Amino acid sequence: MEQQKRYGHFDDQHREYVITDPQTPWPWINYLGNEDFFSLISNTAGGYSFYKDAKFRRITRYRYNNVPMDNGGRYFYIVDKETGSQGDKTIVWNPGWKPCKTPLDFYECRHGMGYTRITGRKNGVEASVLFFVPLKKWAEVQKLTLSNTSSETKTLKLFSFEEWCLWNAATDMENFQRNFSTGEVEIEGSTIYHKTEYRERRNHYAFYHVNTPIQGFDTDRETFVGLYNEFADPQAVMEGKPRNSHAHGWSPIASHYIEVTLAPGESKDFVFLLGYVENEQDEKFEKPQVINKKKAHALIAELDTTEKVDKAFAELCEYWDALLNIYKVKTGNDKLDRMVNIWNQYQCMVTFNFSRSASFFESGVGRGMGFRDSNQDLVGFVHQIPPRARQRIIDIASTQFPDGGCYHQYQPLTKRGNNDIGGGFNDDPCWLIFGTVAYIKETGDFSILDEMVPFDNQPGSEVTLFEHLKISMDHVINNLGPHMLPLIGRADWNDCLNLNCFSWDPNESFQTTENVSEGTKAESLMIAGLFVVTGKDYVALCRKLAGLSGKSGISGIDFAAEAARMQQAVDAMIEAVKKHGWDGEWYLRAYDFYGRKIGSNECDEAKIFIESQGWCTMAEIGAEDGMVAKSLDSCKKYLECEHGMVLNNPAFSKYIYEYGEISSYPEGYKENAGIFCHNNPWVIIGECLAGRGNDAWSHYAKILPSYVEEKYQTLHKVEPYVNCQMVAGKDAFKPGEGKNSWLTGTAAWMWYTVSEFILGIKPDYDGIRIDPCLPETATDYTVNRKFREADYEITIHPNGAQKGVKTITLDGQPISGTVIPYSPGKHTVEVTL
Ligand code: GLC
Ligand code: GLC
Repeated sequence: MEQQKRYGHFDDQHREYVITDPQTPWPWINYLGNEDFFSLISNTAGGYSFYKDAKFRRITRYRYNNVPMDNGGRYFYIVDKETGSQGDKTIVWNPGWKPCKTPLDFYECRHGMGYTRITGRKNGVEASVLFFVPLKKWAEVQKLTLSNTSSETKTLKLFSFEEWCLWNAATDMENFQRNFSTGEVEIEGSTIYHKTEYRERRNHYAFYHVNTPIQGFDTDRETFVGLYNEFADPQAVMEGKPRNSHAHGWSPIASHYIEVTLAPGESKDFVFLLGYVENEQDEKFEKPQVINKKKAHALIAELDTTEKVDKAFAELCEYWDALLNIYKVKTGNDKLDRMVNIWNQYQCMVTFNFSRSASFFESGVGRGMGFRDSNQDLVGFVHQIPPRARQRIIDIASTQFPDGGCYHQYQPLTKRGNNDIGGGFNDDPCWLIFGTVAYIKETGDFSILDEMVPFDNQPGSEVTLFEHLKISMDHVINNLGPHMLPLIGRADWNDCLNLNCFSWDPNESFQTTENVSEGTKAESLMIAGLFVVTGKDYVALCRKLAGLSGKSGISGIDFAAEAARMQQAVDAMIEAVKKHGWDGEWYLRAYDFYGRKIGSNECDEAKIFIESQGWCTMAEIGAEDGMVAKSLDSCKKYLECEHGMVLNNPAFSKYIYEYGEISSYPEGYKENAGIFCHNNPWVIIGECLAGRGNDAWSHYAKILPSYVEEKYQTLHKVEPYVNCQMVAGKDAFKPGEGKNSWLTGTAAWMWYTVSEFILGIKPDYDGIRIDPCLPETATDYTVNRKFREADYEITIHPNGAQKGVKTITLDGQPISGTVIPYSPGKHTVEVTL
């Protein structure tokens, strides 16, 4: 194995990952922002900002797939003099090393909860920048502290730099000929305003401010950088002279120029603020052509001193303290505790906010919020801020069609379904039940089911959310194939299993090509398992509602009868899987258009797939006949490798017209036998339900970032503090190499798995169910869980058992069963296995 260099380490006390070498194997990024204003920031200060929607409201420009890979961002250039044997020499450097790449005497980047602090030292000067988005503010703060650590007075020149994006990130790249004429700015004191297109339909502008008088500025990119120069050597900086340029068209930027003198030992703070403002239609202008800056002034006034900024930062830290106090475990295993208590929960917040839209792998222009993706993200987030989860469920359901089908994606700014991709992914409807049930169990808020929710956002079409759940189930029942298994539609969870697509044209997209659905027999065992799992949840919900009758305002539904109706459908599905979905050692994956088996021992390649093993074992289909145990064993035997479980085995070695995109990838990558981390937890949950704690744990630890961090920082390549979507599988050129970090359903599934199934703390309608499944080496551990208005301290004594709660005491009193009945207040719980 190649020597694994280390680029950083965890600092659990501060909840930070500390990067000590700027030349990480790939940009290691963080996310700033909580609700409206967001930024991506790399360990060298690369990245960009946007308001709500990475496509439609991009504030600063970023070029993806660039050379070098991470180029462009918020850059501070420091111009200093160095005295050497040949006299004085000018040196230019950046606190985050890039873009000048001047070797630093010290470099450190600390990614924390909603903030990043980058510190560089050079030649007796320290520059430390704290980047964060304050709560409820539409702005990114950049607090730069310059310190003179030498014994001489330092006279420095400081240049800031941001490049504006002309709002729509897609047209900014595709239709830039237009943008070359539209760019407009205003300059007022130490604030540079970006107001492109503000005159007509737009009512928003951005600004870049610093809380000190400036001695110059630039707003035109070519004037500042120079047409033949780069970010690494902008002409104005290299000559130490701003040009005071005023952009008209071309490419507007914002750069402040500040002269700084620091006595030995002296430090100065500069607060830079990148803000975004929307004005009322009748308050757009101060006078003709001049933007009304009232709101910008107000925002600046809230954050224009070190004290105000420090206070805002303290509030952000308290906010995270509170969020991370909701579920806290102490096992004595640092690698587990730091993921559960810090990074996994943090990543869940990020996936909740961004779905799959904007990362260093997702351009932010392609995808909005996914129907299935966002529902799954909910289970990692719902305990953190339930009201936001509630709103998300309503937003998602509002993009459903009256027959239960749904738009596959919607845009966060407009909340409208995305027509480019459309619908027809037949797993989508089931996920709505998955998300909603998680919300109700966490909160006990059944009233969400009474909310009136439209179809396709059409006013007048509203029905209750419960009705949406019902038609979601019915959508599966109404779309069964010849084996009474669910028809797959365009695809199920696996976007790349395109059984009705049949594309020979390389210019077609597998995702959007019109499907041949007439006469199809393509059925999915993954949806079958998903239907059974969510169907059982739906039945339990209906029974619960029947018991509550009267309390839920929903009228005209006989919940007991509805429960019975759906139980029948679930039972029928279980029978269909047992009869037509079992291959002898594992569950089949699907039937193709013509009704031929996929994922069977009879196939030449891809004899076994992970998705149906995961879902059918989670559904416990055929457990009594040994199917679950055999399936789980087959996962170990055929799918498991050093870095996790691959998606299918053997990998496809050639393109199969009937299967689509899955067979277009090289072996070991993505959906063709990559370790698609998202689906590993399904099998792990299957293991937990089967009581196989040792196996569950060993699968889990293989893809747990903190274990990977310890061993493979170089090989893994991407950020070692979060999960990535895919790790190259055993058939790949470089098994173990990660890709698509951050925005992946893996985050929520890892959380759901560890919090509820391994550690075994499971919210339920009437309380918390305790049902851990542990490796036999597990020792006593304590979970502090805030739940509704209660605060539980739960200590588990595994006594070497993998599963099976023997006794529970609540505040010293034994209780029967495994559910701690909910009651507000503080409680102590002792559990023995
Ligand atoms: C990506 C998509 C998700 C899909 C998965 C497998 O993660 O966001 O919707 O289920 O790929 O194809
Ligand atoms: C590819 C990706 C998957 C994504 C899909 C749609 O299939 O693997 O992650 O969901 O494309 O863009």
